[in-house]
Amino acid sequence: MNASMTTAVLISTIVVLILHAKIARCCGGYELEIDYIRNCDSDNIVELSEKFNVVLKPNCQVYINGCITAHANITSATVEFTVQKDLIKLSGKKDGCKQLDDAKSSSDIQMGLEILGLPKSCPINKGTVCFGNKPINVSKYKLRMNVLAGHLKGKSVTTTNAGKTCMEFSAKLVNVLMKAIGRGVIG
Ligand SMILES: *[C@@H]1O[C@H](CO)[C@@H](O)[C@H](O)[C@H]1NC(C)=O
Ligand SMILES: *[C@@H]1O[C@H](CO)[C@@H](O)[C@H](O)[C@H]1NC(C)=O
Repeated sequence: MNASMTTAVLISTIVVLILHAKIARCCGGYELEIDYIRNCDSDNIVELSEKFNVVLKPNCQVYINGCITAHANITSATVEFTVQKDLIKLSGKKDGCKQLDDAKSSSDIQMGLEILGLPKSCPINKGTVCFGNKPINVSKYKLRMNVLAGHLKGKSVTTTNAGKTCMEFSAKLVNVLMKAIGRGVIG
């Protein structure tokens, strides 16, 4: 698990989703197969819409389909997470609001948040943010895809001032060429 992956999972769940979007498919010959990105608690204070998904277009542009609803104003958030890449497991606990603040120093995350129209710090106001046709350009990550290739799985439980939120995802980042060879489809 490299540093950028580690950093990725530490940040609040919203940012986590953006970062997972960054490892989405295409680019250096990699393809992302999303099994699911979903709520794991029906009482989520911050909720993902149904069929929340991340798609990567051949030009290395990532599109997020779905909405995130905050059912209350969020002023504090502690994120407990577990992330697994194949057999490697990592877990921890982070201040979600502080992570959003730290994200300000990262121009990539900053840019992602801006593009998506998401708040860049706490408080996060009550309301719904939908991801429309605003692509995130991930071209610059294509050479790092190999580090992340494999089966990625994660879960986060965020405790906010207003309640809890649980989100989880499962995805596979696969090398398209290897996949083709594996199936005996050469050329
Ligand atoms: C949430 O915050 C906004 C902006 O600060 C404020 O106008 C609104 O009244 C707050 N809503 C609740 C339910 O506290
Ligand atoms: C994406 O960014 C790369 C540089 O990182 C640039 O070369 C490319 O043209 C951009 N693609 C689009 C569709 O804007």
